[in-house]
Amino acid sequence: MKKIIIAIDGHSSTGKSTLAKQLAKKLDYIYVDSGAMYRAVTLFAIENNYIDENKFDKDALISAISSLKIEFKKDESGVTKLFLNNKEVSSKIRGMQVSNLVSKVAALPEVRQCLVKEQRKMGQYKGIVMDGRDIGTVVFPDAELKIFMTASAKTRAQRRWDELTAKGEQVDLDAVYENITSRDHKDSTRSDSPLVQAKDAHILDNSNLTPKKQFELVLGWVNQNTKKK
Ligand code: CDP
Repeated sequence: MKKIIIAIDGHSSTGKSTLAKQLAKKLDYIYVDSGAMYRAVTLFAIENNYIDENKFDKDALISAISSLKIEFKKDESGVTKLFLNNKEVSSKIRGMQVSNLVSKVAALPEVRQCLVKEQRKMGQYKGIVMDGRDIGTVVFPDAELKIFMTASAKTRAQRRWDELTAKGEQVDLDAVYENITSRDHKDSTRSDSPLVQAKDAHILDNSNLTPKKQFELVLGWVNQNTKKK
């Protein structure tokens, strides 16, 4: 079967990575979580005191960005882990501190250029599912299948709160709601690569869709595309 590029974009906490992982497993494709890369750069900026709630030393981060090493590696059980400068940071990048600052870091064109270059390299042989905000518009504008995911903010906040509390993080539902809506706003209004729906994307509103129904629907789109000449 023809290998394609699947680009999944959309609002925060819509389940993009869950769907992308399911697809990659089913199709035996590579899965790349581009948001994790922006989160890793943000963690680096926090750990080096370049950014906090009150300040942002953009120049210091921009000078360091090209020497950053961000890698996805599978562990013994086949689970993909994220490494920042050889240190495993998969859980650390999901915390609220990173979530609250990531959209500021992701708005910097220098950060985006560097990460987009890496993302395009990963997709050069196709057979890839990548999720993010600008995958179908900027990273792979020629992707064969583009999906734009959305759901009501209330549904998304509840899902993310469930996920964080299941991992033991003590968070307030209102704080999670505030974080996802403010990231939606920042991501959609920034000047470089804003979150917009690509003209040729399929819209997937999963507010009232079971994971099973959603997967069936998307597999139908995949089949239409892989059969095309
Ligand atoms: O998991 P969630 O949907 O909440 O976010 P994520 O995919 O981990 O992305 C975190 C943040 O990184 C987003 O809110 C964006 O600010 C940024 N991002 C981006 O600018 N471009 C991408 N391709 C992916 C993420």
